[in-house]
Amino acid sequence: MEKKTQKSFLKETIKHIDIKKHNVIKLVEDMADMAYTSRDLNRAASIYDMMLKDKNCCVFLCLAGSLISAGLKKLIVDMIQNNMIDAVVSTGANIVDQDFFEALGYRHYKGDQHFSDDNLLRELHIDRIYDTYINEDELKVCDETVHKICNTLEPRPYSSREFILEMGKWLEKKNKGKDSIVYNAYKYGVPIFVPAFSDCSAGFGFVAHQTENPVRHVSIDSAKDFLELTKIKINSKESGLLMFSGGVPKNFVQDTVVAAEILGKDSPMHKYAVQITVADVRDGALSSSTLKEASSWGKVSTALEQMVYSEVTLAAPLIVGYAYHKKNWKNRKVRNYAKFLIDEDKKVAALAQKEKCNCGRGK
Ligand SMILES: NC(=O)c1ccc[n+]([C@@H]2O[C@H](COP(=O)([O-])OP(=O)(O)OC[C@H]3O[C@@H](n4cnc5c(N)ncnc54)[C@H](O)[C@@H]3O)[C@@H](O)[C@H]2O)c1
Repeated sequence: MEKKTQKSFLKETIKHIDIKKHNVIKLVEDMADMAYTSRDLNRAASIYDMMLKDKNCCVFLCLAGSLISAGLKKLIVDMIQNNMIDAVVSTGANIVDQDFFEALGYRHYKGDQHFSDDNLLRELHIDRIYDTYINEDELKVCDETVHKICNTLEPRPYSSREFILEMGKWLEKKNKGKDSIVYNAYKYGVPIFVPAFSDCSAGFGFVAHQTENPVRHVSIDSAKDFLELTKIKINSKESGLLMFSGGVPKNFVQDTVVAAEILGKDSPMHKYAVQITVADVRDGALSSSTLKEASSWGKVSTALEQMVYSEVTLAAPLIVGYAYHKKNWKNRKVRNYAKFLIDEDKKVAALAQKEKCNCGRGK
């Protein structure tokens, strides 16, 4: 029998779906007269399109699960480039282990979920995500790149949004990853938040950096992430959520309504919400909780919400493809919340400078 090598497993790459190539409007419209998930999907697509038509609506995209490794990178880049989203809240796996990883020039490979010898995969340094393979040696380069980026920055706490912006700048400097989410978000002024930033490849880079620099180092300030996201919510009159999977990003963005209330700001509940998930509502967890349930917590308005019980790679190209071909994004204003947050940071820096001067005088 032929000896299996790493190369013999890592042959065929995952390709990213191109929603521009497939006009799905008629298909999705016809689903309105069907039943079950197809009718739900039709309503979800219409609600997302409404978000884009609504001149006052800021659109948050939430990502959990393994979506970039599964071929959804270009779909998200198309949303960024065509002003179909204003901010992204994601897990670290999607943004660092998968998108930034591909930006470094690496790829995900088609694997086989029925191949049972995971011990052999282990020996060959191949990591498996269901039917997808990753070269673990390449993933280590991704950890190490985060470590190197940490070493170039001024030691202080950063929001994940600030750090991911630095990752975008790094890609530009190295002339890499022009088709990545991190690079395009940086170029188009779309902030990316990863509330549990250390829970991915980035965490390994941070652990190495902080061990080498135990006193003065780069760290992630998750509370600043939440404050920044809340500032966006307060600044935008209305908001809509397009959520893929669930997880931490879903709660983080929903909670901005409650945070705004605590700050005494008049910020309405999220007006629109769509979630695609396979989570089961009976477990009582956040990922599976229906958007109706979220309204009991004062987070999401009930009128324009839709759960779609489907695996994301199946439903997202239809929902986003429908809205893309409807072209209502063409009339949206560009919000550039990345610049808005940089300006907010400048205001805080000016305050700090003023305090420093006042302290000096008192001495
Ligand atoms: N997924 C990975 O390969 C991976 C790798 C490294 C680190 N992590 C970290 O683990 C944490 C949680 O991981 P997570 O977001 O992968 O999973 P999760 O288990 O938190 O998923 C959240 C919910 O989304 C649902 N879901 C996930 N993928 C789906 C899909 N394709 N279609 C429909 N529903 C889907 C799940 O059923 C679950 O209810 C994150 O902090 C992440 O950074 C994940």
